[in-house]
Amino acid sequence: MTDQTPILQMRGINKSFGGLRALIDVDLDLMPAEVLAIVGDNGAGKSTLIKVLTGVHTADSGEIRIAGRPVSIRSRRESMDAGIAAVYQNLGLVDTLPAPQNVFLGIEPIRRILGIPFLDNAAMRARTVEILRNRVGVSLPDLDAPTRSFSGGQRQAVAIARAVAGTDLKVLVMDEPTAALGPEETRNTLNLVRAVRARGTAVILISHNLHHVFAVADRVQVMRGGRRAGVVSTRTATRKDVLGLIVGADVDEDAHV
Ligand SMILES: Nc1ncnc2c1ncn2[C@@H]1O[C@H](COP(=O)(O)OP(=O)(O)OP(=O)(O)O)[C@@H](O)[C@H]1O
Ligand SMILES: [Mg+2]
Repeated sequence: MTDQTPILQMRGINKSFGGLRALIDVDLDLMPAEVLAIVGDNGAGKSTLIKVLTGVHTADSGEIRIAGRPVSIRSRRESMDAGIAAVYQNLGLVDTLPAPQNVFLGIEPIRRILGIPFLDNAAMRARTVEILRNRVGVSLPDLDAPTRSFSGGQRQAVAIARAVAGTDLKVLVMDEPTAALGPEETRNTLNLVRAVRARGTAVILISHNLHHVFAVADRVQVMRGGRRAGVVSTRTATRKDVLGLIVGADVDEDAHV
């Protein structure tokens, strides 16, 4: 029974900006170790929905449950405490620093020698290697190289490792992770999504690219005009089905009217 409980449930989420209703009674279910894609036109409410989840915005009403337990998310800190972390398109890495310093940015382990605090570099390096291997499925060629020398996929891996390091990560959110990447880096990033899921973390992936969505997602939630327009399985639905839900032509989509 336990593995039937969604790792994340959002229920009846509403969010307005002034008179604009960005989210209207939105539900979302995410199963453990599932990749759920969120798709929809510009302005459909995708980013707002995940910003409610990551504590950037507070919902006007609605409920969020993690593993069946209601949680209050009114700040990024509360979101991280609930086991949710986001990797945004710009990744937020400090390009001049190597991977371990990026992974532990702001949460550096301290070791005291005669009461004097020192950064525990050995611990940071060991933990970075462990997280990359066990949670992301990646090993980096050089732990001392600045992250600016890494490929887009490797930088993505470091950003995910940072999300893992800061919390007991249950849900990884990625908003348009492939938007600025070339074909090979896109492939690496999609492989990362698969690797993260294979290691037990559920992923929410926002993407405009239905090829990418069908390549990695288990299910697709379509947003339209601030509402959930539908949820389909990538095993049974086609890209055309999803496109129909995106534009709102889910009834008789071939009719020329
Ligand atoms: N901080 C804000 N203040 C005012 N309006 C906002 C704010 N954030 C989003 N909106 C509005 O809410 C609606 C939903 O925006 P949102 O960013 O969630 O769309 P999206 O689906 O992520 O679109 P895109 O594909 O372009 O990223 C839009 O009409 C947008 O203009
Ligand atoms: Mg957006």
